[in-house]
Amino acid sequence: MNYKELMSSLDKNKMPRHIAVIMDGNGRWAKKNHTIRLNGHRKGVKAVRDIVKVAGEMQIEYLTIYAFSTENWNRSTGEVSGLLKLIMNSLINEIEALNKNNVNIRFIGSTEKLSGDYISKVNENCRKTWNNTGLHLNVAMNYGGRVEILEGMKKMYDDLIKGKFTKNDITTDLFSQYLYTANMPDPDLLIRTSGEYRLSNFLIWQNAYSEFWFTETLWPDFSKAEFVEAVLDYQKRKRRFGGRNE
Ligand code: IPE
Ligand code: IPE
Ligand code: MG
Repeated sequence: MNYKELMSSLDKNKMPRHIAVIMDGNGRWAKKNHTIRLNGHRKGVKAVRDIVKVAGEMQIEYLTIYAFSTENWNRSTGEVSGLLKLIMNSLINEIEALNKNNVNIRFIGSTEKLSGDYISKVNENCRKTWNNTGLHLNVAMNYGGRVEILEGMKKMYDDLIKGKFTKNDITTDLFSQYLYTANMPDPDLLIRTSGEYRLSNFLIWQNAYSEFWFTETLWPDFSKAEFVEAVLDYQKRKRRFGGRNE
């Protein structure tokens, strides 16, 4: 089936509200194509553009993409600085088009290790879209699930000692409000490319009941059609959340 046929076979009543994507395999794509790793990342940006477009067409409410993890600092300085620049330049280049398409974009992650200048440039650009009512696009940048939970705990502790609530008020719902994804629904579907079957510290709290979908495709080769296939497969799943299997 081609992209159009796949799109028309979607069940509009069973759409995921939030899709999270671990975009993996840029380096292997580069190797396979006899080029430098950074070119794999560059080609990966094109795949992001396609996926954002199709998520918008499908009227998905939230799309969260893993761009750079708190562990990715362990790569060579050349790759790290190349990635930071590529992410910034892509944001700057795409912001007008995103705005026109009613996309509301924000970066989620830690500010630790990023320069003040980098952070203000990100905010300056993203802010232009914050009145938009279409797709909410979260770019997980310098994101790590464990750091997110610790940062959330510290913020919650500050509010606790300020007397905003007491120990007995602490619930999973309250704690969720201290995460970067406060006020967003948890991901319904998690997609990971490149044949790796792990979370790599991505939304470890929020993915507690997500449906997982894996493909061998390397991220730069990931197509709009494959994204729709993932959603179609999701629509066949029976979610139970620990309840009875009727
Ligand atoms: C994913 O591609 C992009 C980032 C982690 C920034 P990789 O760079 O991890 O590609 P592989 O896994 O080495 O192929
Ligand atoms: C996860 O991919 C991070 C991103 C996609 C940004 P990695 O390539 O860093 O994960 P591991 O090292 O294979 O677990
Ligand atoms: Mg990888």
